[in-house]
Amino acid sequence: MEKATIRVDGEDAIDLLIASGTEGERALDIRGLRAATGMVTLDPGYGNTAETSSEVSFIDGEAGILRYRGYPVDQLVGNSTFLEVAYLLDRGELPTPDQMAAFESRIAECRALPDGFEKVLEAFPAGTHPMQKIATAIALLGAYYPRTGGSGEVEANRLAATRLVAMMPALVAWSHRSDRDRVYIDPDPGLGYAADFLNMTFNPGGSGYQPNPAHVQAMEALLILHADHGQNLSTSAVRLVGSGQTDLFSSICAGVLALSGPLHGGANQRVIEMLEDIRAAGGDTRLFLDRAKDRNDPFRLMGFGHRVYRNFDPRALIIKRHARALLDNQSNPLLDLALKLEQEALADDFFIRRRIYPNVDYYSGIIYQAMGFPSEMFTVLFALGRLPGWLAQLREMRESSSAPLKRPRQIYTGYSQRDYVPQAER
Ligand code: SDX
Repeated sequence: MEKATIRVDGEDAIDLLIASGTEGERALDIRGLRAATGMVTLDPGYGNTAETSSEVSFIDGEAGILRYRGYPVDQLVGNSTFLEVAYLLDRGELPTPDQMAAFESRIAECRALPDGFEKVLEAFPAGTHPMQKIATAIALLGAYYPRTGGSGEVEANRLAATRLVAMMPALVAWSHRSDRDRVYIDPDPGLGYAADFLNMTFNPGGSGYQPNPAHVQAMEALLILHADHGQNLSTSAVRLVGSGQTDLFSSICAGVLALSGPLHGGANQRVIEMLEDIRAAGGDTRLFLDRAKDRNDPFRLMGFGHRVYRNFDPRALIIKRHARALLDNQSNPLLDLALKLEQEALADDFFIRRRIYPNVDYYSGIIYQAMGFPSEMFTVLFALGRLPGWLAQLREMRESSSAPLKRPRQIYTGYSQRDYVPQAER
């Protein structure tokens, strides 16, 4: 195994092993560093730190590559289904026809929420953000399906994961309708996963409703494209919380809440709001570009930039194609603005030098809006897609040979010891 040698304060040199990944990534293995040197490493934001090895997805930020278990996402979007991708992420291999049939029937059996559970979402104050509803509802499911935290509960964990993937469409649909028409549509096992979700969300009640096939196809693609993405903020939250042998539902709840922030999954909602602001400003994209470049202005171009990609986010390219196809190349004011803003940003030296490109969130909201979703639902749709990735990463961690409680160190920079000062003397 390759080694790196460091020498601290002229002391004896210390060898650190170099770990290598499948695609040639290399990492200094510093597991023995503190014992050997008394030192830890400092890396706010983990830009230089691999917290774990993983076999679930591979991202090459320089080349703009994303693969799930080795399969390029564009091939999965073109050939697979979201449920098949969920199976692939969880078990590591594409299912045989029999395995897929068994998986689909298990999902179909578990799609309905527990009796009376929809009342939970009705209890929220009107206007509660659906991400808060979903997070609470998922944590509560742990009361219905207990004991899914310990390392010895492998089968209970696997069953709970299947249940959650199965029930999530009903939860998401209801998080939308519980604040509106309150028409609760039961899951229809005769429909595919994405079609059933759209039926539960938009069926006005009664018979005869059929989800738009173009919307079903676009939803399948969007769910696949959101399914996993390495150790992003929300996945890291799931792993961190899960490392304490916290139950599966609470660990996923942590992921939902982490995803809701505007710098992470909440960006897709902010993109549409930004485009609406640009439209309200008479389409003045240059004004918003100048604000994004102004270091004294906290405004950032929503849907642009990434902690890992220094090239096009491959998902953004695919979603852009689907947005244009779904809108049947008709003129759509927000899509036209998004295309104009992208063109101007990619030609602007500020963004070129910083290698800032559109990310997964830039065009997705335009598709969701065209399907009829309000912008506050966009991040919940991101969570619906990311769920299989969170579950696969949680399982990978829990079933790995070493799954220590995660507890980062720190460098303390506060006061040295000092004595208490009575209030009268302050
Ligand atoms: C997701 O990690 C994942 O995998 C996440 C995700 C997933 O699938 O899970 O891909 C999903 O979260 C995508 C990101 C969605 N967020 C947004 O679209 C919000 C807008 N983007 C930015 O806030 C920003 O790009 C971040 C937060 C995503 C990354 O910010 P960083 O870490 O500061 O990026 P950087 O180090 O590349 O920044 C370099 C420079 C900085 O300026 P300088 O200090 O050099 O002057 O570029 C600037 C940044 O301020 N910059 C931007 C910008 N993004 C980076 N300036 C204006 N607008 C932007 N969008």
